[in-house]
Amino acid sequence: MSYRTHHCAALRPTDVGTTVTLSGWVDSRRDHGGVIFVDLRDREGITQVVFRPEEHPAVAELSHGLRSEDCITVTGLVSARLAGTENPKLTTGGIEVVATALTVLNKADVLPFPIEGKVSNEDLRLEYRYLDLRRADMRTNLRLRHRVTKAARDHFDEQGFLEIETPILSNPTPEGARDFLVPARLTPGAFYALPQAPQQYKQLLQVAGVEKYFQIARCFRDEDLRAERQLEFTQIDVEASFTSELEIQTLIEGLLARIFRETKGVEIPTPFPRMAYREAMDRFGSDKPDLRFGLEIVELSDIFRDSPFKVFQSVLASGGVIRALNAKGAAEKFSKEQLKKWEEWAKTELGAKGLAYIKASPTGEWESPIVKFFSESEKAALAERLDFQPGDVLFFGADKRDAACEVLGRVRLRCAELLELTKGSEELNFLWVVDFPLLAFVPEENSWVAVHHPFTRPKADDLAHLESGAYENVRAVAYDVVLNGVELGGGSIRIHERDLQAKMFAALGISPEEQQEKFGHLLRAFSFGAPPHGGVALGLDRLVMLIAGTESIRDVIAFPKNNRGQDLLTQSPVQVEPKLLRELAIQSTAKKP
Ligand code: AMO
Ligand code: AMP
Repeated sequence: MSYRTHHCAALRPTDVGTTVTLSGWVDSRRDHGGVIFVDLRDREGITQVVFRPEEHPAVAELSHGLRSEDCITVTGLVSARLAGTENPKLTTGGIEVVATALTVLNKADVLPFPIEGKVSNEDLRLEYRYLDLRRADMRTNLRLRHRVTKAARDHFDEQGFLEIETPILSNPTPEGARDFLVPARLTPGAFYALPQAPQQYKQLLQVAGVEKYFQIARCFRDEDLRAERQLEFTQIDVEASFTSELEIQTLIEGLLARIFRETKGVEIPTPFPRMAYREAMDRFGSDKPDLRFGLEIVELSDIFRDSPFKVFQSVLASGGVIRALNAKGAAEKFSKEQLKKWEEWAKTELGAKGLAYIKASPTGEWESPIVKFFSESEKAALAERLDFQPGDVLFFGADKRDAACEVLGRVRLRCAELLELTKGSEELNFLWVVDFPLLAFVPEENSWVAVHHPFTRPKADDLAHLESGAYENVRAVAYDVVLNGVELGGGSIRIHERDLQAKMFAALGISPEEQQEKFGHLLRAFSFGAPPHGGVALGLDRLVMLIAGTESIRDVIAFPKNNRGQDLLTQSPVQVEPKLLRELAIQSTAKKP
């Protein structure tokens, strides 16, 4: 038996009179006085099937037992729908199939949730993911993801890039997260690390003379999960030799333009604007600024140079800054209680020392816990610089420069949400953030860490600072691509010289012995004529999420983990037998749950 002659979105009025066979699932079943209507659904769409007791009694009888999501095959005659009963919402809405035969391939149990419509219980969706994926929007997302991946493969293929797989059982490569470890049974006590990214391998492929590499690469990072983060995720990973920052960026702009053209039919203007990290932090308090709205952070330190307000005084005396932003027209959204709550949020979640504010009532009176400390001239200067009008709210950050900006950056995003500044917007705001610092100081660890990763190249102009130990002044040849405030990808030109790489490791506090132990293979490889090289990686899940217009990357991953890192469908991670652990030379100290 053949399961189908057509799929369920194929038939049109021109097919009337032909006998067809369709297979799929019962999307819905309606009984109109003995005549049964079934919306038959497959991957492609829906076709209405009619069971007529007066014409085919046995088949119609069988259709009485059909339930939602039963899997069936139907043979029948394509017929025009009666005038007035056409359904313009369906591509097949002009016809119906009058069933002459029905085979029930498999019955469906009572469903945990309806397949159509919105299901708010995400845990339940994940537990029955195979049913969740039958839903129209999830099917669309899977298809979109396929299209994006396909466009990427075509793009890189046409540009002469080779797709090369790199190991999943690999050695640790630092990308700033915790590693997932896999015990190596054959080397008791030793572990593989799952790759946080194929970073070292793609560089080693350049040493190998591959010149142009790409991979749709699975990456693993043991970090706290958020809406745009998963423990395992996919990168569009790229590396090339004899290239430049501009060439890599142009390649990626071409890729993104192609993807948006092929999947959404929109033309995105290239090249994307560039903004230096420093400017992004100062104006927007973020290294991935959402430029669909203003709400810029404004410098006020000079205005408060001689302020008697103790908080400002001490911050300025210790080299900090006073900055603020104006949430225009937000006053009516902020009661006193809400402002208190925001202050609490800034303190507990953002680590701010406070979140001073001034609210201007519609009639222009200022409400604020701090304004009593300001002189008339300070008030006037403040109002002018921030264009402070009745109905506006100002928020202040007084701290070290980056800390003040980061807090105000978060306040900025929350204000934009509250004021619905991007609601309904179709804008695609791309930009490159460039000139990142190479290193950042972590006071808790009293050490410097790589802002991107330790293989990132310092700017030639700043090499002297790396030599002299003025690390805060060293910029990297690194770039992130940002879309609507989401970091889509990041990359850099790399270090390809052994000595410079060793210097970078030293700046990170990695001793020569440790360098040999952890990165000896890379340093050694660099001493065999390693070519200059660089690359980038885009988060595929995030990209598809933004194209699909969903809020969570879980919606564009077939089998994602929940926020606790569990796969609710298979119940992983699971406890294992002590015997298995013994074989792996592992002793567990975990308490049984
Ligand atoms: P980076 O760490 O910036 O760079 O990662 C590149 C991109 O991967 C995506 N991404 C994630 N997506 C989902 N869940 C996660 N947990 C997650 N972590 C990162 C982001 C990010 O921009 N090897 C370097 C690239 C390079 O230098 O070539 C790297 O991995 O969209
Ligand atoms: P205090 O003098 O601590 O009562 O603070 C007065 C107001 O200033 C309160 O609204 C605090 O939230 C705010 N505030 C205190 N420290 C800071 C700071 N470093 N930055 C911004 N606002 C602050």
